[in-house]
Amino acid sequence: MTEHIFPPDYARIKMVQSFAELLATPFTDGVNALCWARTLTGDFAEIVTAVGESEGIANLDEETLQSLTLSEVGKAARDVVLADLRLLRAHGLAPAVDCIANYPRDDDPAGVATDVYSFHADSAPVAAETYLCTYSGACSEGLRNEQAVRRIDVPETRAQLLALYGGEEGGAFDVFLREHCYDLHYAPVAGARPYSFGVGHLWRIAIAHPDCPVPPCIHRAQAEARCPCCPRCGCGT
Ligand SMILES: [Fe+2]
Repeated sequence: MTEHIFPPDYARIKMVQSFAELLATPFTDGVNALCWARTLTGDFAEIVTAVGESEGIANLDEETLQSLTLSEVGKAARDVVLADLRLLRAHGLAPAVDCIANYPRDDDPAGVATDVYSFHADSAPVAAETYLCTYSGACSEGLRNEQAVRRIDVPETRAQLLALYGGEEGGAFDVFLREHCYDLHYAPVAGARPYSFGVGHLWRIAIAHPDCPVPPCIHRAQAEARCPCCPRCGCGT
């Protein structure tokens, strides 16, 4: 079951009060997720509706956002998104706004999905971080590091992957696991309680890289709840 409030007993999340604080706060003392909680004004679902039916992921650049015909509340939402884009860009980041109907699903022959619906850590070969915000729809979920086990450390899963690899344990197998990102995916332990990243909040989370002083923040995207009769209505039935 997903908690829809930030878990108060989880010391790896630190709340901040401003964008400046979000940028400047280091990941120390085990903290691997910073959250600037916000209540945004505007109808963000109207932007999704205005973009129209699409498959997969539609990237919305400024020009596309500006071209949408919106009501006053839709325009208010667009102003928020544009302001976020400009704020992040002004600080040397490269933000993108995606309207996501569905992410590509991984159909892995070993049964170990490596898509974004699986709990995972982002990674990079150099120091980097992930900023994320859900404006509308199903928001990302987090999994406490203490309630997660790497899938490659689950004996049955490791045996499946070894069979897929077709060799023996050792350095070459470790390279195989890394090259296919199997080492970045996690399974929740029994009784784990994932938490929701919520809507409108801007997060900065730690990712796996050689100099990261804390464990990476484990997270996943959630599939949209879809009404079977109308995939865009969002009624969740
Ligand atoms: Fe991710």
